[in-house]
Amino acid sequence: MMDIEFVRSRFIKHFDGKTGNVYASPGRINLIGEHTDYNGGFVFPGAVDKGVMAEMRANGTEDTVMAYAIDLKDRVDFKLSDPDGPRASWARYIYGIALEMKKLGVPVKGFNIAFAGDVPLGAGMSSSAAMESCFACGLNDIFGENKVSQWDMVLAGQATEHNYCGVNCGIMDQFASVFGKAGCLMRLDCRSREFEYFPFKPDGYRLVLLDSVVKHQLAGSPYNDRRRSCENVVKHIAAKHPEGKFETLRDCTWEQLEEVKEEVGAEDYKRAKFVLGEKDRVLAVCDALNEGDYEKVGEMMYKTHEGLSKDYEVSCEELDFLNDIAKEDGVTGSRIMGGGFGGCTINLVRNDLYKKFIEDAKKRFNEKYGHEPKVYDVVIGDGSRKLC
Ligand code: GLA
Repeated sequence: MMDIEFVRSRFIKHFDGKTGNVYASPGRINLIGEHTDYNGGFVFPGAVDKGVMAEMRANGTEDTVMAYAIDLKDRVDFKLSDPDGPRASWARYIYGIALEMKKLGVPVKGFNIAFAGDVPLGAGMSSSAAMESCFACGLNDIFGENKVSQWDMVLAGQATEHNYCGVNCGIMDQFASVFGKAGCLMRLDCRSREFEYFPFKPDGYRLVLLDSVVKHQLAGSPYNDRRRSCENVVKHIAAKHPEGKFETLRDCTWEQLEEVKEEVGAEDYKRAKFVLGEKDRVLAVCDALNEGDYEKVGEMMYKTHEGLSKDYEVSCEELDFLNDIAKEDGVTGSRIMGGGFGGCTINLVRNDLYKKFIEDAKKRFNEKYGHEPKVYDVVIGDGSRKLC
C-alpha cells in the first residue's frame, strides 16, 4: 500500500524524525507508437494511477544524500561529488537526476529521501521514469524554486537513463510521467515536441494490461541495439541523398528504405520497416479515435504486435501467447506495450468479453507456464505533482 502516511512514517523512522515534502509521479501506458520516440515519430501514452511517491527534505549538508528505498528496505548514502556514484541501481536514479538538475542550474545540496512505488517493476510501465520525474519534481521544488520547466525535467529524466543507467531511451516515458492528465491520453510528436490531450472514454470498451511477469530489462544491449539499427539506416539513406536533411527515420520514406535494403542488411531493414509502419499506424489510430472507430484502433494494435514480434524482435514466447489468446477470444486489440523483452500486453476489450477473456488468459497461461499473468485495469491518472 502506498499513501502519504505510509511513506511519511518510514521517512521519519529512517532519518531524524523531521518531515519533508511529498511528491508523486506515475508510470504510463502507451496505446500505440512503440519505438517511435527515438525515431522522431509519434507516441500515444497516458499516465496511470500507479507510480512512485517520495518524501524529501534538504538535510543541511553540502552534498550528502541519504536515501531509503522503502519497498526494498535498502538504505544507501552517497555524495553528489563522488564521480562514480552509488552502485545500487535504484540509487543511481537519484544520483543521476540530482546531477542532471544541477546541470540545469538547480543548486542541489545534500538531502534525505525515502520513496515507495506501486507501479510494477519490469512490467514495461516505466517505473524508472516514474522515479526520475518524481525526484526531479522534488529537487526542483526544494532547491530550484520550481524554475525548471516541465520539459526540462522530462529531458533530465531521459539524460539520467542515458548517462547513469545505460539505456538510450527516447522521451515518451518521462514525458507521460510529467505531463499526464487524468482521463486523457496524449499524442506527442517526438520531433517537434508538440502534444495534444485526447480524452479517452471508449464507450463499451476498456483497457486492461496482462503482465506476463517475464521481467523486462532495458539496460544492456538489446534496446540500444534496436536504436543503433535505426540510426544506421538513416545514415545510409542520408549518404544517398546529400541534398536532404535526415535526422531520424521520421525523415525517411518507404522508397528510400527500399533503396538501402541490400546495403543495410536484413536485420536493420526489418527494424526500420517496423518503425515506418508504426508511424503511419499512430496517425491512423488518431483518426479512428476521432471517429470513435475502436475496431480500427484494435486492428492497428494487432498489426503493431506483429511488427514488434516478427520485425523488431522485441517480443517473447509468453507475450506472443497472450496476444494469441486475445485474438482467439475476439478481443478488439492487443499488443506488447513498452520496450518489450517481457512485461505486459495492452488489450482493448469490449465490456461483454472482458470476463471471459481474463478467465481464459489466466487459465491457459497458467496451464502453459505454471503461473497466471497479473491483471491491471487501466485507470488514466495525473502526472508529477507535489502532494504536501
Ligand atoms: C521504453 C523507452 C521509451 C520507448 C519505449 C518503446 O519504454 O524508455 O523511450 O522507446 O521503450 O516505445
